[in-house]
Amino acid sequence: MEKQIKAMREKIEAAAAAITDSKEMYQLRKQYLDNKAGQISALMKNMRDLAPEERPAFGKIVNELKTWALDFFTAQDARLKAAELAKKNAAEQIDVTMPAPANRCGALHPNTLIANELIDIFAGMGFTIFEGPEIENDYYNFTALNTPKDHPARDMQDTFYVSPELLLRTQTSAGQIRVMENAKPPIKILSPGKVFRSDDDATHSPMFSQMEGLVVDKGITLCDLQGMLDVFAQNVFGKDVRTRLRPSYFPFTEPSVEVDVSCFECGGKGCRLCKDTGWIEVLGAGMVNRKVLENCGIDPDVYTGFAFGMGIERIAMLKYGIPNIKMLFESDVRVLSQFHE
Ligand code: DAH
Repeated sequence: MEKQIKAMREKIEAAAAAITDSKEMYQLRKQYLDNKAGQISALMKNMRDLAPEERPAFGKIVNELKTWALDFFTAQDARLKAAELAKKNAAEQIDVTMPAPANRCGALHPNTLIANELIDIFAGMGFTIFEGPEIENDYYNFTALNTPKDHPARDMQDTFYVSPELLLRTQTSAGQIRVMENAKPPIKILSPGKVFRSDDDATHSPMFSQMEGLVVDKGITLCDLQGMLDVFAQNVFGKDVRTRLRPSYFPFTEPSVEVDVSCFECGGKGCRLCKDTGWIEVLGAGMVNRKVLENCGIDPDVYTGFAFGMGIERIAMLKYGIPNIKMLFESDVRVLSQFHE
């Protein structure tokens, strides 16, 4: 009998030694200690076959075996669970000295950054925002801007027509008319928006964005224009930047000017960006043509005004050194993620 008990102990020990998993150990424990089906419980049932005087001794050694097995499995369970916990902790260990994974979040598009910056600058000088429609009629986009149907200046802009009278606006200047028709001077508006031209190369896109400015009041002069443009240029391109007005032609302004800023890359000495001229063209402007004021019911003998219009993509390309306008339309995050406020 003793032998049988010893053999069972050894069997339990041998089986347990081969187990590395607490769940398997639990199964083994059940094989021996389950109240109904366990092998140790089964031994107790053998008691019936013994002579009554042998029973107490037998009961004692089986009970000892059971007590031993309970302690043994409790110890095994603790050992395996401790090992499993250590393994889990090792696998989940965090190195707090590692750099945190980059937090990838969206950012504003360079066009939006520039538009917002321009709005901030001009709002600081008292301008309010006007947004006109993208589908315009011929009158607002051309005729009222002193560009009647047979005017050669219409060729300056290749227009997408929707119908003989409706077109995709080629310039935010169309908004000038809508504003002047509806407001009495003083007028001081900034008009951002998309414009469309049949034009497509490294610096032109069939759809792009412009920012238009218009100021009309008594006694407005070209000096006011240049003063405001100085504020604009120094805020956008750097405080050492100067502006220069060159004579130009637009039907809706007289005189008309092209506005250059001194090259912010080389300080005016001449470099690749400014094509060795020291100057970079940034926008068109001028004094509002008398005819345009008249078209809107504003007396040109009482009021004068200036207007300007710039391409937002062009400003973004210059400021951020973007070589191709397509990069602003392709939505490639490798490009866009480089720009931040
Ligand atoms: N509308 C012109 C263009 O798209 C830009 C421009 C020039 C706007 C002179 C103006 C201006 O307001 O005065 O080429």
